[in-house]
Amino acid sequence: MTTEIGSVLRGSRILPVLTVPDPDTTHRLTEALAAGGARCAEVTFRTPGAERVLATMVAHGGLTVGAGTVLTRDQAERAVATGARFVVSPGYDEDVVARCRELGVPVVPGIATATELMRALRAGCHTVKLFPAEPLGGLRMLRALAAPFPQARFIPTGGIENSHLDSYLADPAVLAVGGSWMATATHLERGDYAEIRRLTAESLDRSTP
Ligand code: 3PG
Repeated sequence: MTTEIGSVLRGSRILPVLTVPDPDTTHRLTEALAAGGARCAEVTFRTPGAERVLATMVAHGGLTVGAGTVLTRDQAERAVATGARFVVSPGYDEDVVARCRELGVPVVPGIATATELMRALRAGCHTVKLFPAEPLGGLRMLRALAAPFPQARFIPTGGIENSHLDSYLADPAVLAVGGSWMATATHLERGDYAEIRRLTAESLDRSTP
């Protein structure tokens, strides 16, 4: 199994982050994302049904699915057992990183400071999630942070919307952009799958050179 996140994401530069309140809606959501051109997705471990959502999405087969908001070794284990192909954390936790290494699954830890980035790099994590990207200062922050660390690649996430995408995607330090803008809590609550599909397609169009 590859532990390189870039190849696991299959070159996709958009990473939909999904917090799904009702696992029964997973099939329709997955169809909408796949129809919009998404190739991957991150299911956050923030809801009681997250493992069922992950399992259903994996079984669908249309997307490469990872687990997000993974805070503990135990969650990392459960995510991988359920079929997650990658693991994302909002912060840097050495136990989570170590367990993912043992499990042979790519891990993308969150960082918000140069110190956290140095820790992640020392642990061999060259791709990190800049979180929460927009409240931290957005692209200006990312560029300033990236300057001393040319070996680092970023997946900025947090507060990003379609309108911010182009400038993030144009930055060579950005591997991919993550976020929930194409499948927000409101879209999911209303079952607005046409809009999820439309926003996904719009984002994917922007990310294709
Ligand atoms: C995450 O867990 O990655 C974030 O909650 C996604 O951020 P967003 O909802 O602001 O896009």
